[in-house]
Amino acid sequence: MARNDSNFVCQDCGHESLRWAGQCAGCGQWNTLVEAPRPNAAPAQGRRGGRAKSGEAARPVALRDVSAPAVERLLTGIEELDRVLGGGLVPGSIVLLGGSPGIGKSTLTGMALGNLVAAGRKTLYVSGEESAAQVRMRAVRLGDSALDVPVVTETSLETVLGTLEAVRPDTCVIDSIQTLNAEGMTGAPGSVGQVREAAGAILEVAKRIDCAVILVGHVTKEGAVAGPRVLEHLVDCVLLFEGERERSFRTLRALKNRFGATSEVGVFEMRGGGLVEVEDPSARFVGEASGAPGSCVLCSMEGTRPLLVEVQALVAPTEIVPPRRVANGVDRNRLAMILAVLARHGGPGLAGADVFVNVAGGVRVDEPGADLAVALAIVSAHRGEPLADPEGRPLACFGEIGLTGELRTVGHADRRLAEALKFGLAPVLGPPETERMQGLAPQATIRAALGTALARRPQEAAA
Ligand SMILES: Nc1ncnc2c1ncn2[C@@H]1O[C@H](COP(=O)(O)OP(=O)(O)OP(=O)(O)O)[C@@H](O)[C@H]1O
Ligand SMILES: [Mg+2]
Repeated sequence: MARNDSNFVCQDCGHESLRWAGQCAGCGQWNTLVEAPRPNAAPAQGRRGGRAKSGEAARPVALRDVSAPAVERLLTGIEELDRVLGGGLVPGSIVLLGGSPGIGKSTLTGMALGNLVAAGRKTLYVSGEESAAQVRMRAVRLGDSALDVPVVTETSLETVLGTLEAVRPDTCVIDSIQTLNAEGMTGAPGSVGQVREAAGAILEVAKRIDCAVILVGHVTKEGAVAGPRVLEHLVDCVLLFEGERERSFRTLRALKNRFGATSEVGVFEMRGGGLVEVEDPSARFVGEASGAPGSCVLCSMEGTRPLLVEVQALVAPTEIVPPRRVANGVDRNRLAMILAVLARHGGPGLAGADVFVNVAGGVRVDEPGADLAVALAIVSAHRGEPLADPEGRPLACFGEIGLTGELRTVGHADRRLAEALKFGLAPVLGPPETERMQGLAPQATIRAALGTALARRPQEAAA
């Protein structure tokens, strides 16, 4: 009997097991199981699903007959944020905003609430991490309307729920979910049990009072939002705010969105007056692109928007075996594949060299269309030959590389091309398309693309 009073919960994934083990059977992490008292099953179920317990049969309703009042989305006034959310916050929805420390989560949410207040909405900012004075200091930086946001500094879950019910705001920010402490639960704030309990209770209240809640969450060192994966299933939308702290660019992307497209990306720049939307990020990145060896412009797609980013590579001889492969902003496995294809299909063999690849500006490109840019940047770095044309305009390209060395088509070729042409970066190297496209220099294989790219500076090749 006593044995059943507690079980062991993985602090990473929320997996529960009756016995302690060194490795979690759910996610494979080591030393993450912590003993936790079993939540008393009866009251917990009673709160969330009381009807199911009573044994009454529920009556299914045809979707056509379900009444669904047209919901008006709450516009945060930050265009990039609204776009990533799929057109603003949906009333009654829960958004999880994750990001590493100091990236600007509080700044972003503070600005959004300020704009909502200015638009006549009722807002609430719950700060569990900072004192009201500290929140005020940030608000002063963000402008006048941010100072009108009502704030409570509270870490008790029960008090927060009570405040929500009493204030009934349209939008509420909880900064952060890891600081909330549910009374009935043992375990430190931020542990899986606490976070799950807090999020579940907030979810229930938010749906009832039709309040859009933004939960701010920390990311684990592996980069997963809020550690416990349980939270990702619970919420309607998961946003990840990322970027290098030293650089001013930040990107906001949706990992999950029940009300809009994922893979939308918003680009911001951190300035003294808060986060500034970068409306034309391509212009910034192309402007910064150097025509130096190892640099190449990638026409990528970020959600529904084409984005030009600079891919940089550095190839340095090394004695270390195996040599280092460092990828920032692109997938490491993808880099390994590109190096292997290069070695077999017309490129250099780099078994004796360290290879570093970086997408400038702290942007992440998670699409196969980046392959060609990575390959060309590496070859350019290896040979020490720039890919820019004699006038110094960088080379733009896109395309997936197949294992047999062929270039494969990727989605939205027309839009990628149009974005590059906007900046005068023609001709653009890309995979062959079924129809002829203005400004595209189609290449069937990586070997052909290398030949074309390296022939852009005939006078230097001869020198
Ligand atoms: N005056 C300023 N000018 C420019 N940038 C600033 C200024 N003050 C703060 N910042 C930037 O704001 C960042 C902090 O923002 P914010 O507090 O919103 O981050 P956060 O993600 O909420 O952090 P935490 O995880 O600690 O809560 C700092 O890292 C810094 O880069
Ligand atoms: Mg913060």
